[in-house]
Amino acid sequence: MSADLGFVHRYLPGEDESSPTLLMLHGTGGNEEDLVGLGETLAPGAAILSPRGKVSEYGAPRFFRRLAEGVFDHEDLLFRTHELAEFVEAASATYGFERSKLVAVGYSNGANVAASTILLHPGLLRAAVLFRAMVPFEPDVTPHLSGMPIFLAAGRMDRMIPPDNTQRLADILIEAGADVDLRWRNVGHPLTYDDVSEAKQWLASLLPQLSGAQDIR
Ligand code: MLT
Repeated sequence: MSADLGFVHRYLPGEDESSPTLLMLHGTGGNEEDLVGLGETLAPGAAILSPRGKVSEYGAPRFFRRLAEGVFDHEDLLFRTHELAEFVEAASATYGFERSKLVAVGYSNGANVAASTILLHPGLLRAAVLFRAMVPFEPDVTPHLSGMPIFLAAGRMDRMIPPDNTQRLADILIEAGADVDLRWRNVGHPLTYDDVSEAKQWLASLLPQLSGAQDIR
């Protein structure tokens, strides 16, 4: 099932009405298929919404343009973040999942666009799992993220993302009131089994709270 909605994407319905929905956001060079299996592992029975980033970097899909590694095209980042938020709202209306049960799961570039979405559209996502994320931009105004559960998994040996950059992202989110769980491991940029199993446990403790949640429309 895959209506257009402006993004090439996959949508897999959840087991039942109380199931959460995972918004899976791939890294540079990935696509809408890449993280479907990860979503199924992280939260069996959850619905899965997985778009493909619309920017092409020499053929590699991304969610926003960058000028160099770790240097983002700010204007494009803002535009693409709003575009992704519109897609999420349209997908919620089309497929009938509740945004109060929507958890973003992003890796690398996908984690960065998820972080940007959290900062620019507080309230759109209920929770987030960010693997190897960095600061997408420094917000002028601190958003209200009161109690939003956010899991961050970072690598001390990540050569793409300096540890103090991930720490700065955590600090921004904490200052905004989010409930941040930042996990450090002695690993690099690629995702590891330990990242996945820790995120799975974290989600398992969160999901019961989401199953009774209802949208305020
Ligand atoms: C980004 O461009 O979002 C980050 O440098 C990570 C990545 O390469 O995907």
